Amino acid sequence: MRVLVVGNGGREHALSLALHRSESTSAVFATRPNAGMATIAEPVDLAPTDVSSIVAACPQLGIDLVVVGPEAPLVAGLTDRLADVGIPALGPSAAAAQLEGSKRFAKDIMRDAGIPTADYGAFQTAESAKAFVRDHGAGMVVKADGLAAGKGVLVCDTVAETLAAIDHVLSDRTFGDAGAEIIVEERLTGPELSVIALVDGETVAAFPASRDHKRAFDGDEGPNTGGMGAFSPVPQIDDALMQQTIEQVLKPTAKTLGNKGIPYQGFLYAGLMLTPDGIRVLEFNCRMGDPECQPLLARLTSDAGSLFYATATGRLAEQNITFDDRSSVCVVLTSGGYPGPYTKGMPITGLDAAGALEHVEVIHAGTRQEGGKIVTNGGRVLGVTALGDTIQAATRRAYAAADQIHFEGVQMRRDIAASVL
Ligand code: AMP
Ligand code: GLY
Repeated sequence: MRVLVVGNGGREHALSLALHRSESTSAVFATRPNAGMATIAEPVDLAPTDVSSIVAACPQLGIDLVVVGPEAPLVAGLTDRLADVGIPALGPSAAAAQLEGSKRFAKDIMRDAGIPTADYGAFQTAESAKAFVRDHGAGMVVKADGLAAGKGVLVCDTVAETLAAIDHVLSDRTFGDAGAEIIVEERLTGPELSVIALVDGETVAAFPASRDHKRAFDGDEGPNTGGMGAFSPVPQIDDALMQQTIEQVLKPTAKTLGNKGIPYQGFLYAGLMLTPDGIRVLEFNCRMGDPECQPLLARLTSDAGSLFYATATGRLAEQNITFDDRSSVCVVLTSGGYPGPYTKGMPITGLDAAGALEHVEVIHAGTRQEGGKIVTNGGRVLGVTALGDTIQAATRRAYAAADQIHFEGVQMRRDIAASVL
């Protein structure tokens, strides 16, 4: 099988590696691969968002399966367009990708499916939203309906702060038309974690739980980022809670969407909070997490190509999804200044030494080849991922490897997985 991976970040390097190791996959192709992906994938010089050109290129390249990493091409209808020309693709249709593309859509599905989530209202005018908040009488969470590059969620401490947040998103259109409609919801508390599953319309095959670290600095301080590290499993979620998440969140979501004539196929990502009243869904994403993908695929022991193809063609029930019992930890190395402005093109050293350590995989995110050297090419540069018998052992290994690597301005958090150590 010849597989095209769309996207070129850390998640897509991890997906490419899993496919490279897969016996069912003979060749991996990738859109504008980073330096790590380029060692295992044939480059296809097309932007990951260039839907028409990707659809046109697939028959020419003899592609049997397309694996879509990021949300943008999904929301833009890449899988629908590939289906039109008979090419299976792992990832939801544009209609189903609204689960991530529209928070209103996601909340309405959750309500219809009876999925545990924060109480909410959806509003298009500031007056009605503010009346809802005054009625509630406490700080709430204000969310722009549309995609806002991970910035469209404002968690407020007080009523006054919530009212100001409503003006910020709805009246001032700080996030543009993504804020033409807003969700205002009850503020929940508790540790967060993600459960990500493959869904083929009906069958759900869940990966173990994982946890991302969104803030830039240790102790969850500083600005939000794309993710500074992740680990799996999460000890707080035992087998019973995991089963409950599958039965009460993932399966009803797939079923409800199917009943509405929008079958869900691809990775389904549930962002969860473990509140004193039990599991609550904070959000859905229509793709693998990044960096969660790195530790999760490090633990996958079944054939990734077979699993992905079966998911894309509605035959997931015939597959067995299996995992390494060990723990995995991914530490992200970023450019200095990220998530603010940063400089690209810094030479990276120590990659071979880090990669040579046992049970370590250096996943590339923002890197490129330049005159025989590998240089930085993005905010998140590398995701150093390690396996270990315990979370402690995996963490120690990941940091030992990360410390071998250097480029000017390199930053990383020192407390990945510390919440469970
Ligand atoms: P989301 O994009 O919906 O996952 O929101 C981003 C972040 O905002 C989450 O990871 C939480 O930390 C926080 N958040 C979202 N919804 C709530 C909520 N209802 N209560 C408390 N925090 C929330
Ligand atoms: N790491 C969070 C996400 O992929 O949305």
